[in-house]
Amino acid sequence: MYFKETKGFPKDFLWGSASAAYQVEGGWDADGKGVSNWDKFVRIPGKTFKATTGDKAVDHYHRYKEDVKLMAEMGLKTYRFSIAWTRIYPNGNGEVNEKGLEFYDNLINELLKYGIEPMVTVYHWDMPQALEDQYHGWESRKIVDDYVNYATTLFKRYGDRVKYWITMNEQNIFTGHGWLEGMHPPGKVDDMKTFYQVNHHANIAHAKSVITLKELHPEAKVGASFAYSPSYAYDRKPENAMAKADYDDLQNYYWMDAYAYGRYPRAAIQYLKSLGCAPVFEEGDEALMKKAASLIDFMGVNYYQTCVVEYNDINGVGSDHTMNNTGKKGTAKVQGVPGLYKKPQNEFLPTTDWDWTIDPMGIRMCCREITSRYDLPIVISENGLGAFDKLEDGQIHDPYRIDYLKRHIEELKKACDDGCRVLAYCTWSYTDLLSWLNGYQKRYGFVYIDREEDENSGTLNRYKKDSYYWYKKVIETNGEEL
Ligand code: BG6
Repeated sequence: MYFKETKGFPKDFLWGSASAAYQVEGGWDADGKGVSNWDKFVRIPGKTFKATTGDKAVDHYHRYKEDVKLMAEMGLKTYRFSIAWTRIYPNGNGEVNEKGLEFYDNLINELLKYGIEPMVTVYHWDMPQALEDQYHGWESRKIVDDYVNYATTLFKRYGDRVKYWITMNEQNIFTGHGWLEGMHPPGKVDDMKTFYQVNHHANIAHAKSVITLKELHPEAKVGASFAYSPSYAYDRKPENAMAKADYDDLQNYYWMDAYAYGRYPRAAIQYLKSLGCAPVFEEGDEALMKKAASLIDFMGVNYYQTCVVEYNDINGVGSDHTMNNTGKKGTAKVQGVPGLYKKPQNEFLPTTDWDWTIDPMGIRMCCREITSRYDLPIVISENGLGAFDKLEDGQIHDPYRIDYLKRHIEELKKACDDGCRVLAYCTWSYTDLLSWLNGYQKRYGFVYIDREEDENSGTLNRYKKDSYYWYKKVIETNGEEL
């Protein structure tokens, strides 16, 4: 049926929560796992908060049964997790590691045992270091075949049990942080040309894997997860409205159009050509991207915040390659692109301790925009609040998290009422986990993990936060009781 007849969340709505392999698993060299780019990057002094690593993370690799049991008790409908490429192919290509495959077999089976729908992210940033060493990873077109080979192995092994697949997590973030901001591997700064080429390779890898998945499992549901920050023009000055148009083309549609239409926005390409940074296409790329676009089933959205966009003249502010990674509120600086836009704070909205704008209505705007522009179903693959939590007498009172999630879910419900086809809502995150650049003090989970930045501190015991019980009720009532 084209138009929805019911209000609120659909009956089969997937209430979920999410994680990523590097952030939860630990066991960084267990059972034949290879070294990833992150295993290496975190060891470079100054790259992560207090030099934290995912070596042990929250030990999900060894405690997944306990974690899944807690999910089952909560009534979770779907669990989104990623697979570590280095567990499957320790060297990125070549020999497959059966032990690694078995770990995810076990995790998937454990989820299914409790009726929890597994939602698998193929790539959540931890690339085999061997591929970096062989040919500089995403910078080389060679990665397309290796990615597709890895993804195909997953589709063949797990496709009988996994229906929901996400090819890429936040391609815009891992490439932006990796080639423009120097904050993620390979740690390059302002390398615009490579940044756009890397993105093109990722789009082709995504496209080929979508096509392969649909050949193997036509009933599978697939999409990519995009870190979507909708924008507001600073004011009604036409030059600020134009700055917003530039921002949207270059920061949002550049990725979403690639996934949904199989092309890049025309104005963005014109701009990139003027800088000599437009991606180089191989013959057949256009057709591949278009074909994959016709096959995707949803747009994955990781929603955390909106932004304000204001015109920035050619001598204006650029990026100083920093962000607030300490949790000291008010330390983030205004960043921009000279000649196009800058992003001042929104004085109408509060922020988190890490200076992320809190804007519940933004989630509805994401859904409305995707519905109008692409008419695609939507999976909210991440949404959540990073905060300092305190364990006291075995309890964690996190009313701020409940309030954050409640207000976002209220807006998501309105998006459903507006006619947006929202399939799932995954909070970030299920348990507390490693925040890539912010260590273990920035907590997102429903389940508190007893650990600090120091590898040897904490019991790694699990504790249910107040928000755990609250979300259980939300699921039970299908979002009626918030
Ligand atoms: C998303 C990522 O960018 O946001 C997650 O997909 C990440 O992996 C999450 O942890 C929150 O970001 P941060 O920097 O607060 O950990």
